Amino acid sequence: MGNSKIRCFLFGAIIMLLFVSIKTQAQNLENGKKIYQTKCLVCHQSDGGGVPNMNAPLDGASNVVGNDIARLVKIIKNGFNERVELDGLYYSNSMTANPDLTPAQISDVLSYIRTSWSNKATKVTTFQVQQAIKGNQKTSAK
Ligand code: HEC
Repeated sequence: MGNSKIRCFLFGAIIMLLFVSIKTQAQNLENGKKIYQTKCLVCHQSDGGGVPNMNAPLDGASNVVGNDIARLVKIIKNGFNERVELDGLYYSNSMTANPDLTPAQISDVLSYIRTSWSNKATKVTTFQVQQAIKGNQKTSAK
């Protein structure tokens, strides 16, 4: 009897954990969407399509769904004004920096843009963002 009680308890605990983690993930994306709407939408637009020649698109952009998370974190934190070729095109506007966003907020907004519209990349964790920021600080300190 003791055993089956324990099994029952473990089963319940696993279900709870699953539920909580699914809920947290949904909240992260909700939160990412809110950050996107207040800080990014004005330039990158609600469909992530950007503005031709001015603001780079995020939907279908190879860098946005790519594996270089550190580069994405750096762009969000420090802004971006490099006038480099992005998927064969150039953009004239300057992206503003977001020094006020916490690592958790950066991971939420990156997760949102990597999984929205036609983008189907992996989400980004707060830990990945923290690692990327540590890397950035090393580079800028030398
Ligand atoms: C003032 C307009 C503006 C705002 C606000 C803005 N961006 Fe940008 N973003 C740009 C421009 C312009 C570029 C391209 C800059 C260049 O080519 O030098 C860019 C580039 C990017 C890139 C790189 C795309 C690629 O293909 O490499 C990412 C990722 C990005 N923005 C995400 C965001 C996110 C997330 C936010 C909100 C936190 C945001 N941007 C807010 C204008 C903006």
